[in-house]
Amino acid sequence: MNKRDFFKTGLVAVGTLLLPRKAWALEYYPTVENTEWAILYSTWCGTSRDASVWISEGMNGIADVYDVRENPDLSRYKHVIVGGSIRSGVTSQKLQDYLITHRDELKNKIRAYFAVCGNMRQPVSQEQYHKFIDNHLVKLTGVGGLPAKVFLGRITWGLLEPDVREMLKSFPNMEEYDNLKRSECMAFGQDILKTVNP
Ligand SMILES: Cc1cc2nc3c(=O)[nH]c(=O)nc-3n(C[C@H](O)[C@H](O)[C@H](O)COP(=O)(O)O)c2cc1C
Repeated sequence: MNKRDFFKTGLVAVGTLLLPRKAWALEYYPTVENTEWAILYSTWCGTSRDASVWISEGMNGIADVYDVRENPDLSRYKHVIVGGSIRSGVTSQKLQDYLITHRDELKNKIRAYFAVCGNMRQPVSQEQYHKFIDNHLVKLTGVGGLPAKVFLGRITWGLLEPDVREMLKSFPNMEEYDNLKRSECMAFGQDILKTVNP
């Protein structure tokens, strides 16, 4: 390599390092190449991220998993699962905005919904399906009548914003909990696959 080529190669390498990191799906678990499936989720402390990865695992790891904060381009996917964690009765503003902005693009691709909530550590009932799925996610996308699952989530003190942690700790009997179950998430993933590939 002559001196000029050497410098050129060096500049390209440095330029590559300086480029902002592209948004990547969680591709570190087994998946197929050029998958047609994506899961779009919103989270504050990670419960919906784990639920999403486990739903994908139930589908034999075929779905790419995106945090809505990455503002992913989902145009190359044929099937999209949408879900998120609940605070004050709704998913994050970012997810709500994304679903409204991409309403037309997503309308023929959404295959299932999920929500993750605390529900005061009580079992999930139809009420949560009405509140979080029918009256929230479905209203945002305009697409109903799909498989849906509401999971119980978790609270981890160390992951909460300090003011939120203080506020929650002031409630009587409030403590950390972890009710999200991988087996339930995986079973939901299997169910979703069956609706598309019976
Ligand atoms: C500030 C705050 C508000 C919450 N509001 C609700 C709520 O309105 N309804 C509910 O069922 N759970 C509520 N939860 C419980 C969360 O949905 C639950 O902890 C979930 O697992 C959090 O998910 P994440 O780790 O993905 O952020 C709330 C939790 C926090 C910290």
